[in-house]
Amino acid sequence: MSLPDFQQSLSELTEQAQSAFASASDTAELDEARVEFLGAKNGRLKSVQKMLGKIDKADKPAAGKSLNETKQAIQSAFDEAKKRLVGDGDAVVRDSKFDATLPGTPYRMGKLHPITQTINELKDIMGRLGFTPAEGPEVEDDFHNFQALNIPTSHPARDPLDNFYLAVAGNQAAAFAGEEDNPILLRSQTSTVQIREMEDKQPPIRMVSLGRVYRPDTADWSHYPMFHQIEGLMIDKNVTLADLKTVLKLFASNYLGDEVRIRIRPSFFPFTEPSVEADYYWDGKWVEFGGAGIVDPNVLKSVGYDPDEVTGFAFGLGIERLCMIRHQITDIRYLFTNDVRFLRQF
Ligand code: PHE
Repeated sequence: MSLPDFQQSLSELTEQAQSAFASASDTAELDEARVEFLGAKNGRLKSVQKMLGKIDKADKPAAGKSLNETKQAIQSAFDEAKKRLVGDGDAVVRDSKFDATLPGTPYRMGKLHPITQTINELKDIMGRLGFTPAEGPEVEDDFHNFQALNIPTSHPARDPLDNFYLAVAGNQAAAFAGEEDNPILLRSQTSTVQIREMEDKQPPIRMVSLGRVYRPDTADWSHYPMFHQIEGLMIDKNVTLADLKTVLKLFASNYLGDEVRIRIRPSFFPFTEPSVEADYYWDGKWVEFGGAGIVDPNVLKSVGYDPDEVTGFAFGLGIERLCMIRHQITDIRYLFTNDVRFLRQF
């Protein structure tokens, strides 16, 4: 084949390709034309390229150059047509093969555990009432869990069957037998943080502490060996039971809604006098939320406060119960078995 013939077929091919691309009226037509001219297997450019082998050796460089120019011309004609049909930017959107009405790929967001969400919300509510968050250790000593809270050595609350005493250097037996002065245990209540806070600071105090507590209860729908409490403490001049009731009411209506009602009943705790049990009326029934009361003068004395100068109230409520009531969870064990089908609902 002569060089002029070869070049002639190249320019014919270019013209045909250019007009085919230019006349394509949608992406499907354009794609058809692309396969016809630029197809890697049977494209017409490919067939012309094969003729290169039949060109005289002397003419090969010139023929190769023409071929390259043709390739570029056809490719840019295609690019131009594509730009015309699908635009520059969101090409995919206008591609006829793309269906913008299809649902997207579902994306699963990680979330905080419902108890963590509850803790954050309660902390927030108490923060708005002026209570500052405080924390204490979960491994506590007898002094903070009992003695400073006016719970005497003989008190049944210290029973080894009701507490997780820890064996430190093998002293578990001694701790159980009450021979150890200040045995270590997993705290059974967040009231420990009241003591730590008062040891640390001078009145006025308004603190809230939210965290885990441990009791060797058999798990059932409403018990679990580990659960969470929210502890509130307010110490100042002339703090009364009326202040306590106001705070409990504001706390409840902020968390459960304005319609919630609250009542207190006489009760007993070694570290408060008088002591009360707080119930909330929610969803047609009275539910007990925890204990509260006016801080016992002995407790104030144990941290070096003067009971004639300051008074205060304290309360300790179960966080799981608040969370369960709000979300109508019927069994506390759901909260700790980590079944994602449950957890995903929050
Ligand atoms: N610590 C008590 C309990 O765990 C609750 C409580 C806290 C009662 C503060 C009175 C004052 O049951």
